[in-house]
Amino acid sequence: MRVIGMIVSLFVVGLVAQAHADDATGLFKKYKCTKCHATDSRLETAPSYDEIARKYKTTADAQTQLAKVVKDGGSDVWGEARMPANPYIPDADVAAMVKWILKH
Ligand code: HEC
Repeated sequence: MRVIGMIVSLFVVGLVAQAHADDATGLFKKYKCTKCHATDSRLETAPSYDEIARKYKTTADAQTQLAKVVKDGGSDVWGEARMPANPYIPDADVAAMVKWILKH
């Protein structure tokens, strides 16, 4: 039984490590982005990350531009609803989330 327990915990540790590698999904949850955004389906509240990625595929400075929107908020790109400002989120986390949106 001990051995099985060890294998299981190694497996779990491996999964967690993998999830952290290039995955910003934990950050989206932490900062409540998931309240308004979904990855692949458009919620009533906001565009999906897939749509955002498609729209900015050919924008050279999409990373900088979208990081600014996440920090300062934005509106009138997708509709009437506003994207709220998040001045308290560290730049590194903002960059990681935007990178994930653009590349996932
Ligand atoms: C209260 C709902 C809400 C929350 C919470 C929210 N968003 Fe948004 N987001 C929106 C809306 C609405 C838009 C579309 C705004 C527009 O039309 O310009 C948007 C747009 C965006 C865009 C595209 C901006 C553009 O100019 O095309 C990105 C990127 C984005 N959100 C990322 C995030 C991230 C990251 C978080 C979490 C830190 C987050 N959002 C949290 C509602 C929300």
